[in-house]
Amino acid sequence: MTCLGTSVPPNVVSIAGIDPSGGAGVLADIKTFSALGAYGCGVVAALTAQNTQGVAGVYTPPVEFLRLQIDTLFADVPLHASKIGMLGNAEITLAVADRLAHWRAANVVLDPVMVAKSGDMLLGRDAIAALREALFPLVFIVTPNLPEAGALLGGRMPETLAEMRRAAERLREMLPTTTPRWVLLKGGHLPGSHLTDLLFDGDRMIELSARRVDTHNTHGTGCTLSSAIAALLPQCAGHPSPVETAVRTARDYLLRAIAGSGALAVGHGHGPVHHFHAFWPHPPAPSHC
Ligand SMILES: Nc1ncnc2c1ncn2[C@@H]1O[C@H](COP(=O)(O)OP(=O)(O)OP(=O)(O)O)[C@@H](O)[C@H]1O
Ligand SMILES: [Mg+2]
Repeated sequence: MTCLGTSVPPNVVSIAGIDPSGGAGVLADIKTFSALGAYGCGVVAALTAQNTQGVAGVYTPPVEFLRLQIDTLFADVPLHASKIGMLGNAEITLAVADRLAHWRAANVVLDPVMVAKSGDMLLGRDAIAALREALFPLVFIVTPNLPEAGALLGGRMPETLAEMRRAAERLREMLPTTTPRWVLLKGGHLPGSHLTDLLFDGDRMIELSARRVDTHNTHGTGCTLSSAIAALLPQCAGHPSPVETAVRTARDYLLRAIAGSGALAVGHGHGPVHHFHAFWPHPPAPSHC
């Protein structure tokens, strides 16, 4: 089930952090947009000093400069979707929400990044309330992992499929109820040979399961999935079930990117997924040399 193939590529922006190793954040998002037929734009909400092993430091830009980045971009470029990732602190979160509301941003995909794959904290505690109160009203689909779902709901992380279902229902109640909104609760943190994500719109609970790929190269899986959804939502608009199709297509792309990650050799920790697995021949074709 795919939905690629609209004639004019959609413009999609990532508002997130910079991970210099290129496995997560804005750099990974731009690779994902590009691989999936969308034109990628990027607004830098945070700079990190980071590699595949951990985060050594975080610098957030002055909030006025962040606002200027968003306003300057949106004043010129029609954006068909916005992916929101690492925001760093409450002040940045509130500013992003304010500017997205001002520009009536469409197809807002919120990946509520709180902790890096290495375990380093990426969001201040005060920002979780700002996410819930200021950003949730603007969100079309929110994509927490299990610890993030626990933090957003003010409790512990869901540990069973039944607890995941209940968490997805409660998260959906935190989004506006008058228009279609979606929760994608990612089950990657539960052990087992299969992983299950739950997609819920307040009515249908869709179980999306896949076999776990046995690899350490899972740096940026969450960033890649949410940016794939943002790239695909505008391209699936004419489909009978656009959101389910965009999410299924995005998961399929991510699974292939994880499975293809062994072709890369990047760092000594959690390596990146292979965003261009469908494009790069290995070994390189003679014409590339
Ligand atoms: N080893 C794996 N094999 C297959 N799919 C995986 C694997 N690890 C994660 N996924 C899938 O990747 C997606 C992201 O899930 P995950 O729970 O890792 O998100 P995350 O914790 O937000 O990631 P990140 O640490 O990059 O922010 C989900 O669809 C999940 O099912
Ligand atoms: Mg994540």
